[in-house]
Amino acid sequence: MNILRTIPEVRAAVHAARHERKTVGLVPTMGAFHEGHLSLMRRAREQNDLVVVSLFVNPTQFGANEDLGAYPRDEARDAALAEAEGVDILFAPAASEIYPDGFATNIHVAGLTDVLDGAARGPRHFDGVATVVTKLFGIVRPDVAYFGQKDAQQVLVVRRVVRDLDLDVRIEACPIVREADGLAMSSRNVYLDADARAQATALNRALDAAASVCEAGERDADSILSAAQRVLAEAGITPEYLELRDASTLETVTRVENDALLAVAARVGAARLIDNHTLKASA
Ligand code: PAF
Repeated sequence: MNILRTIPEVRAAVHAARHERKTVGLVPTMGAFHEGHLSLMRRAREQNDLVVVSLFVNPTQFGANEDLGAYPRDEARDAALAEAEGVDILFAPAASEIYPDGFATNIHVAGLTDVLDGAARGPRHFDGVATVVTKLFGIVRPDVAYFGQKDAQQVLVVRRVVRDLDLDVRIEACPIVREADGLAMSSRNVYLDADARAQATALNRALDAAASVCEAGERDADSILSAAQRVLAEAGITPEYLELRDASTLETVTRVENDALLAVAARVGAARLIDNHTLKASA
């Protein structure tokens, strides 16, 4: 595996692969790899001749009071894990490579970013994501890019950028990877102490409870949300948001007639965690 730091190096490597008619898969990451990231790399490895993983803790998607400074960083560990998955290129640029002096462009996706994490974290969050992902697409020009469904809103935002800007890349969303007790894997789980780690399992249990109510035939959003709310309250968790929204448009739903995204965000101990389930209207 080659660790590359500069855009020209990545372009040259991808250009050489393209010359040999190789397909290119990109896994954009901020590092601190866990099984969720590794599942994206495996999917990319299965489907492409050249696999590029980007490792860049993107400062522009962190708010002023968020955890940019504390975000876990261990490039040597990440590189070893990526290499073990058969990744060809780890692109680990400095911030100045991505945002050189004079950088002045911002990609803003209207509408989709007004709700859920966009509302909770502020509009800059998804602007930062959309801008850096578009840059990565421009640098690597992948055939396919892989994202985790845990960041369901991020997947919708990236898909919209691709559609609106006619970017020639297919977006593949991969299933949420969970710990044995159901906690969604996240780089931020390292912030949880033992008590918070136990409490955090309530997020997925709450989503499961709501999904069961929906599977039993309930279609009323308030009733479905109440089932989740009860589990969170029993665990002493006050969610930042717990919402049911259309799975494609993120519009509020009052009845589950189409696939719906049941999404939660909450502070648990020192971590801000998110999780979601897609409720199938046909279930
Ligand atoms: O999901 C992430 O890790 C980040 O938001 C991404 C897509 C790598 C952009 O910085």
